[in-house]
Amino acid sequence: MNRELRKTVIAGNWKMNMLASEIKAFKDELMPLISGYSAWCEAAICTPFVLLPSALDVFKGTGVGVGAQNMSQHESGAYTGEVSATQLTDIGTQYVIIGHSERRQYYGETDESVNEKTLAALKTPMTAIVCVGETLEQREQGITNSLVTKQVETALKNVPGGEELGKIIIAYEPVWAIGTGKTATPEDAQEVCKVIRDVLAKLYCEKSAASITIQYGGSMNDKNAKELLAQPDIDGGLIGGASLKPDAFAVIINAANQ
Ligand code: 13P
Repeated sequence: MNRELRKTVIAGNWKMNMLASEIKAFKDELMPLISGYSAWCEAAICTPFVLLPSALDVFKGTGVGVGAQNMSQHESGAYTGEVSATQLTDIGTQYVIIGHSERRQYYGETDESVNEKTLAALKTPMTAIVCVGETLEQREQGITNSLVTKQVETALKNVPGGEELGKIIIAYEPVWAIGTGKTATPEDAQEVCKVIRDVLAKLYCEKSAASITIQYGGSMNDKNAKELLAQPDIDGGLIGGASLKPDAFAVIINAANQ
């Protein structure tokens, strides 16, 4: 983390979990545990589409933001089952995860569709959490850095510099660390996050790159968050499993506030 240069963002990705009726109890347990949390650290929960209205209602006024886990690249029209960026912002959604590896793996998302979605999200006030990361096979082939570089470059194609970049977060999520309990070592995660920052500096400038929040995701939990967040280029986390437990999620948010 580097508090002087950029904000820290801890976002929970609930994936396809939780029910509308469970959100209030989650909030009631979480909020007293994070009562001291301060302005430079943002916390958010990204829920399935159908839970967004309830989550927005429950978290209203708490300082905890609410995000979606996906969106369409199209503005409107005949796209059955899809949800547009404008529909998300119309109900007050503040964040959207784009290009999560589960979307890439199971639903055919590509670097190009991630780019289209990122451009569409930027037309709205939402902050886009753009996910990149390598599979185990790619790591073993030694192509992690070049692959992540290409993912970032393609995702941000035609994204202008300046203010728009303030609405972009890059989440580095090694696929082999997601839901497996295997976390990247803080050093390995830092190495790739630094590669990402260098790519951002090449695409824009050093100053812009230094202002962009880069999260780590992949089995981040209450035990390892502090060490990961202590790395200079890791500015937060995208948390799956541990974000479903208010006590564990609170420990991670508080680790970002120390
Ligand atoms: P886990 O924290 O469950 O490994 O999930 C990480 C993730 O995919 C967050 O988007």
